[in-house]
Amino acid sequence: MDIILLKNRAISEIQSAQNLEELEEVFRRYLGKNGEFTQILRSLGGLEQEERIRVGRETNELKNFFIEQVELKRRESHGREFQRQAEGERIDVTAPGKRVVSGHLHPLTLVQRKAVEIFSSMGFVVAEGPEVETEWYNFDALRIPPNHPARDMWDTFWLEEKQKEFEVSSPEFPKTKTPKLLLRTHTSPVQIRYMESHNPPLRIIAPGRIFRYEATDASHEINFYQLEGLMVAKDASAAHFKGVIEEFFRRFFGKLVAVRLRPSYFPFTEPSFEVDMSCLICGGKGCSSCAQAGWVEIMGAGMVHPSVFKAVKYMPRDWRGFAFGMGLDRLAMMKYKIGDIRLLYGGDLRFLQQF
Ligand code: FA5
Repeated sequence: MDIILLKNRAISEIQSAQNLEELEEVFRRYLGKNGEFTQILRSLGGLEQEERIRVGRETNELKNFFIEQVELKRRESHGREFQRQAEGERIDVTAPGKRVVSGHLHPLTLVQRKAVEIFSSMGFVVAEGPEVETEWYNFDALRIPPNHPARDMWDTFWLEEKQKEFEVSSPEFPKTKTPKLLLRTHTSPVQIRYMESHNPPLRIIAPGRIFRYEATDASHEINFYQLEGLMVAKDASAAHFKGVIEEFFRRFFGKLVAVRLRPSYFPFTEPSFEVDMSCLICGGKGCSSCAQAGWVEIMGAGMVHPSVFKAVKYMPRDWRGFAFGMGLDRLAMMKYKIGDIRLLYGGDLRFLQQF
């Protein structure tokens, strides 16, 4: 074995290794378990003593030299690879930033938040109720018994399939409260739920989504938003209601708006009224949004009926209350001059991006 030839071959192989993997392969070929140097060192035992000392020394020197060379090449390759990586990842601090496209709030959310802010500043707290409601809370507890003509006002989505599951899974539900399920047709059931678990005096608002099975047009949707209001106090009156609502409109629209109260009928309030505001889209002249009336109906309202107080175990003799349910969609239409309620639910970006 010519040690010089072996040395030259090993060095040229180290040099021609293209990357770290190839270099490790060269290392294994010479110094691995069956590498060439390993085999020479293993075979020393069969040599004459003098020869053994010479070959052993030369092989060990070559081995150390080889390890040194491989180590040098390793560092060099690491350096090159690191540099290549760093070049690929160079950060150009002068490059212009990428614009992050963010969404924005829907006009109905803006309106709801503004309404909540104004009522909160007047001492009303926010209460919530479920969108899937029982017939009891939606109708019976509000003095709208089965077959009562008032139920015609709210053509209803009944949930037949869920019905059976509900009956099985709610043993705590009192038998007297008919456990039939529906999509709530107004936010008024929240009044009952809240009064059942809280003592008067109280002031609440309950914004939320509601559902009605009815034909759509420019001012009617099948699902829309209401904001319920309820104040119960020793001396709450219709005059207080009018004051609260006028102040709300003034702050919501940022100006005085003509408001009128029309006598109306709701089974759970007595007396009852509808509240109209002058149509801000046509300035009161009449247009398709206000059905040519010049006025837009914004809410139903009234003084809480004594029987409702009795049902939630308040003493009707001691307490007075006013309640209202306003249509948030109609408010949004007036505030932003939207001519058709259906635009709010169409998902058309050309419309939504204007807010
Ligand atoms: C009610 O829903 C009563 N719960 C309101 C109430 C609450 C009365 C508390 C007394 C005491 P009404 O059906 O009128 O009432 O609806 C109230 C408001 O919801 C309407 O004035 C209107 O602004 C809005 N609204 C009614 N139907 C629709 C519809 N299909 N699409 C959009 N908004 C509607």
